[in-house]
Amino acid sequence: MEMINLTINGVSLKAESGSTILNAAKIIGIKIPKLCNMEMKDIGFIHRQSCCRICLVEVDGVEDLLPACSTHIWEGMSISTNNIKVMTTRRTILELLLSDHPKSCLYCPKNHNCELQELAADLGIREVRIFGASIPHALKYTKAIVRDPNKCIKCRRCEAMCRDIQTCNVLSQAESGFRAVVETAFKENLEDPENKACTFCGQCVAVCPVAAIYETTYIWKLIEDLANPKKKVIVQVAPSVRVSLGEEFGLPPGTNVTGKMVSALRKLGFDEVFDTNFAADNTIMEEAAEVKERIEKYLSGDKDVRLPILTSCCPAWINFIEHNYPDMLDIPSTTKSPMEIFGSVAKNIWTKSQGIERENLVCVSIMPCLAKKYEAGRPEFHYRGNPDVDYSLSTRELASLLKQADINLCNMEESEFDNPLGVCTGAGAIFGRTGGVMEAALRTAYEWITEKELLDVNFYALRGIEEVRVAEVMIGSIPLKIGIAHGLGAARKLLDKIKNGEENFHAIEIMACKGGCVGGGGQPFHHGNFEIIEKRIAAIQEIDDKKIIRKSHDNPYIKLLYEKYFTSPLSPEAIRLLHTTYYPKNNSSSD
Ligand code: SF4
Ligand code: SF4
Ligand code: SF4
Ligand code: FES
Repeated sequence: MEMINLTINGVSLKAESGSTILNAAKIIGIKIPKLCNMEMKDIGFIHRQSCCRICLVEVDGVEDLLPACSTHIWEGMSISTNNIKVMTTRRTILELLLSDHPKSCLYCPKNHNCELQELAADLGIREVRIFGASIPHALKYTKAIVRDPNKCIKCRRCEAMCRDIQTCNVLSQAESGFRAVVETAFKENLEDPENKACTFCGQCVAVCPVAAIYETTYIWKLIEDLANPKKKVIVQVAPSVRVSLGEEFGLPPGTNVTGKMVSALRKLGFDEVFDTNFAADNTIMEEAAEVKERIEKYLSGDKDVRLPILTSCCPAWINFIEHNYPDMLDIPSTTKSPMEIFGSVAKNIWTKSQGIERENLVCVSIMPCLAKKYEAGRPEFHYRGNPDVDYSLSTRELASLLKQADINLCNMEESEFDNPLGVCTGAGAIFGRTGGVMEAALRTAYEWITEKELLDVNFYALRGIEEVRVAEVMIGSIPLKIGIAHGLGAARKLLDKIKNGEENFHAIEIMACKGGCVGGGGQPFHHGNFEIIEKRIAAIQEIDDKKIIRKSHDNPYIKLLYEKYFTSPLSPEAIRLLHTTYYPKNNSSSD
């Protein structure tokens, strides 16, 4: 790699040819303010729209100030990032940005997490001397995501994420100049039947620097239910929440706060604190049975068997295939997501064992995910109008609720989940990271297909963070070609290859978010730092590594559930309660 010599603020340095000024400055610890720019190289997200101009710097011999985020360095370049001209220009730009921005920081969903607010503090803005007109916009609500165009600073990160990484193309800039706004194609609501593309993956929310896109909150609904003596309120917590929640309380990314989180949830007033990991083990019972069934049919020469089998636990991915590949809806596993399996078992089986009316049980989920809010509202998961999962809160909402209730997670004693829906294996735990669902399924499918014990449960070839991973896995003497994709653009690449007959697989795992659920749209904001997501992945793996039982079918409470209620995977009762149907998005029953 060719190295370039340059000077920044009088300090000489070498940087790789092709670097931007912004990235070269980081080498010597100089932080140039930025707003529209976001770069997560590990996942291929390089957003250099260069529209906010907050990163302007002065380069010797160049008359105009240049944007550091999109100007590449050259040999002998001499740059000033902090002279009086640069600082006053930046200040004016920021004041212009603030001039028509709502001043509702005190009650803004992004308060304390807003990059614009932080920038105003960093640049020492104490007053705004410029007053601009603004065009008022109505807020747009859905079950999962709220859009507030009044707060949009037109950085277009959401557009780039939705178009380039997720390939959904839902959002783009409409109109221009003062009237510019980031919108859907015909200004439809994301949930409108006419809008056939939003998956509710929440990745636009994850990258928006302000509160122009944020999650629909169910905090007050939950507070009301917790205060209602006629209701029994139970909670399930997804695998990846326990390795990210601590960040909201100042703990390092990847801190495992399972025991403290359970105590905090009990202190909030939940009657039972259960684990979605248990339901993940249940998911594997059904999904591994489907894998076994389809592989055995394939090996026996059945020409009609549908392969590859695709995982089905990510609701944004399910929305994606329903929108984009309606002719391939017979390929995914029909097993419900762990969240919905938990809801179904809780409302249909656990209520009976407890003598509770279904209507009096409130089943809440804490998820890393915004698509789960949408999933909870799907009619397939309701019985006589009563949902299996009443509503879903994100990791961020849980943190906010704990703070409202003056519960400091860090000060909690450790405690265990309640039983019987609180015991999990290592296989259930790894659902939270990319590759985990497939690895968990293969641990069980291996033993069921070969009828031999799997001595090493680690399928290392399926791990990693490359957006598409392909590995051959030996199930006894049978070689299976496995694909893993995270991010919907990566999923599209694999699906197109299958559709065009370019590549064949036996099984594929797809998760909509980069890194899997650890990078979900409801997680604490990463602000463009992918290392945070990698630390969460490592923490999830550590949970699995430390478990004594690491195969879902060895979970003693799962065995009991099958002995007492389901008899066996794919039995009629299991199909009734644990499986679902997918609909092309032009089918009104799915909207
Ligand atoms: S939720 Fe996902 S699909 Fe929908 S607009 Fe945002 S990034 Fe695009
Ligand atoms: S909605 Fe957020 S991410 Fe999208 S352009 Fe507006 S401010 Fe930027
Ligand atoms: S990867 Fe996980 S967090 Fe992201 S949409 Fe899918 S289920 Fe939700
Ligand atoms: S951060 Fe460089 S132009 Fe916005």
